[in-house]
Formats: sequence, C-alpha cells, structure tokens
Amino acid sequence: MPKKILIGPFKQLLPLSGLPLKGALKDEQLTIINNGGLLVSEGKILKIGLYGGLKSEADEIESIDHPTVCLPGLVDAHTHICFGGSRAHDYALRNAGKSYLEIAKAGGGIWDTVTKTRQAPEEVLVKNTLKQCERHLKNGVTTLEVKSGYGLSVDEELKMLRAIKKANETSAQDLIATCLAAHMVPKDWSGTAKGYLEEIGNELFPVLKSEGLAHRIDAFVEESAYSPSQIRPYFEKAQAMGFDITVHADQFSTGGSQIAVEVGAVSADHLEASTDKEIALLAKSNTVATALPGASIGLGCAFTPARKLLDAGACLAIASDHNPGSAPMGNLLAQASILGTFEKLSNAEVLAGITQRAAAALNLNDRGVLEAGKKADFTLFPTDNYQEITYHQGQLKPSMVYKNGLLA
Ligand code: NIG
Ligand code: FE
Repeated sequence: MPKKILIGPFKQLLPLSGLPLKGALKDEQLTIINNGGLLVSEGKILKIGLYGGLKSEADEIESIDHPTVCLPGLVDAHTHICFGGSRAHDYALRNAGKSYLEIAKAGGGIWDTVTKTRQAPEEVLVKNTLKQCERHLKNGVTTLEVKSGYGLSVDEELKMLRAIKKANETSAQDLIATCLAAHMVPKDWSGTAKGYLEEIGNELFPVLKSEGLAHRIDAFVEESAYSPSQIRPYFEKAQAMGFDITVHADQFSTGGSQIAVEVGAVSADHLEASTDKEIALLAKSNTVATALPGASIGLGCAFTPARKLLDAGACLAIASDHNPGSAPMGNLLAQASILGTFEKLSNAEVLAGITQRAAAALNLNDRGVLEAGKKADFTLFPTDNYQEITYHQGQLKPSMVYKNGLLA
C-alpha cells in the first residue's frame, strides 16, 4: 500500500477550490482552513482538512514547524524563458524614448533574440531555461508554460522545443511547451508570410506530434507580425491536428482577441489594447483572458483592463510573460500584486489568477486548486495571514515549495 503522508499544520490553508472560473471574486468567497493539513500519497492530494482530524489516517507526518499560509503551487501560464543573449540595450533604448516597435523595425527586438538563440547550441538553451526555472521556483511557481518563437525556422524551432523538453526532464517544475513559430515573419524568409506559415504547418506540426514536443500553438497577432486573416488557416490546421490554440492578442492594436474567440482558443494573452468591444467578446467566451503585467512594467505602458474584464464576466489569469525583451523581470507574484494595486483586484482575484484560472489558461484540470485527486503542488509562505502575500508585492518569498508531494 502506498504511504499516506500528512503535511502540516498550516496556520491558513487556502485551497482556492469551489470558486467560479469566470467573473469577479470577493475575498469573502475564499475558503480558509485554520490549522489545516494535506494528506498526500503518490504525488497527489488524498484529503484536505483540519490537521488534527487527518492525523489518525497518516502513515507518516511531515510537520511544518513555523507559521505558514499554504496556497496551491503558482502556475505561470505564459513565458518565453528559453532564449539566448540579453536585450539590456533595447531596454536602455526604450527608456531613452524609442518604442518597442521602432526598435523592432531597426533590427532589435524579437529578431535580435532570434539571432542569439540560433547561435546557442541546444545544451546551452537547456541550461539557460533551467536557470530561469530555479528563479521561478524560489517564487513559488510549480508549473511554467514555455514558448519557442526565437528559432523561426523548422530546424531552429525544433532545437528550442527539444531544449524545453530536456529542461522539463530535470526541472523541479512541469514545463508546458508551446510552439510560437508564428512570433513574427522571419527576416531571412524570402517568401510570403502565408508561405512561411504553410511550411511550419506542413513540416513542423507533424514533428511536434511525433516527438511529443508541444500540444499548443501560439501566434503574435499584431501589425508587426500576423494579421487575423493570415493566421486563421494556420490555427485551423493546428486545431484539425489536435493542438490547443493560444494567442498573443491586442498588445498594441486589436484583432487578436476576436480571432482567439472565433477559433475557440484556450487563452488570449496581453489585451492591453482591448476596448469594451473585445472585453465583451472575451467575457461571453470560454477563452481565458491572460493579463501580462510584466510586459506593461517592462515597456512602461498601460496594464490590461483586468477590472473591466472581471466585471464583464471573463476568466482572468495573470502570467509573467518572462522574456528577454518586453518583460525581463520574471517575478509572477510581484507583477500580479502590482496589477492588483493598479486595477483594484481583490486578493481572491489575484490569487485565483495565478493558480486556478492560470491552470485553466493551460487547459489543465489536475492543478491550480488543492482538493482530493489534484496534484500535491503547493507553496508555503512564512506568515499567518494570507493578506500579507500580495501586500509584500513579491518580497515575501515562500519558505517551502512542494511539487508532486515532495519538497522541491
Ligand atoms: O509576449 N509580444 C510578443 N512577444 C513577447 C515579447 C517577446 C520579445 O520581446 O522578445 C511578449 O511580450
Ligand atoms: Fe509573450
């Protein structure tokens, strides 16, 4: 018989379960178990309840000897942490007054990282990705989505996705790979945008399937990248092959969220430029609206209208967008807390956005909440009051992080 291990007691245990997936949340809706415990077996939660009440069922006890608040392991549903080089120079140029799109047009931006990523051998990309994973683990993140998109040819995208797969074999977290070969039209592609997307669909998609490299397809829908009409057949082909769709949408101009909703994408991410029309479309749909405050902080531009999205009834996830260009900070909890202050989000909305709702953005229903049958992924913060977590805006670091029931 597999061993049943009781972990606790936690001063406050917040399972984040039982909350609606869509719409505004009040802190009063949060369940808080005082002196709670988790009974864990084979990496999964068997039972959640009062620590004292679970003792008699445990074969072993792992006691937590300092006051903690226990949350589900954080889920970062949008990152680009597999890359070569640095874009500190772009950052300086932006702060000197150049725009993100101007820098991109002048040969910097995404293409600069593509050049550096192509120069890096696969092992270097594995090492770089693992280094970023360690940093996210210290901040309580137990699941990370990781995109390709700095290869931009069949071979170079494969190199990135194989590196992400290898990193996943040794990282403490689960890495969920997404193919972002449609990040921009590669500057060294001599054909049309349509021709590039066809080549990716015909040559790369089948390998993603056969090697199990990614089950999600993303595209940057923007004036500087792909238009909604260019991307529709690409998404349709991907869906016909069984991939989930996610979209870089409405970052600087609208159009992306509409195509996301029309094709039934699992998430539409960014949305800084979304107006009431796009907000209403997203709210009516099952597409998760993912805010990326790290990109707003990195570029010095407006935040995603998170309050309006929630009030309209959308499912709002919050992710770091950690990447070398627009979002170099890479601290999900700090960014989500800051978004909360600017957009007036309750603790329940911020915490659900980086757990329950972030898992929905990745189409994962085995995590993001603490309840029987779910993964035993949880993060302990050294405090006796959950309100301290967002209050410290990312500076209250987890004292312990558990992944699949084990201390990570
Ligand atoms: O999500 N907007 C497009 N893609 C990334 C940025 C990538 C980069 O600047 O390297 C984003 O912000
Ligand atoms: Fe992104």
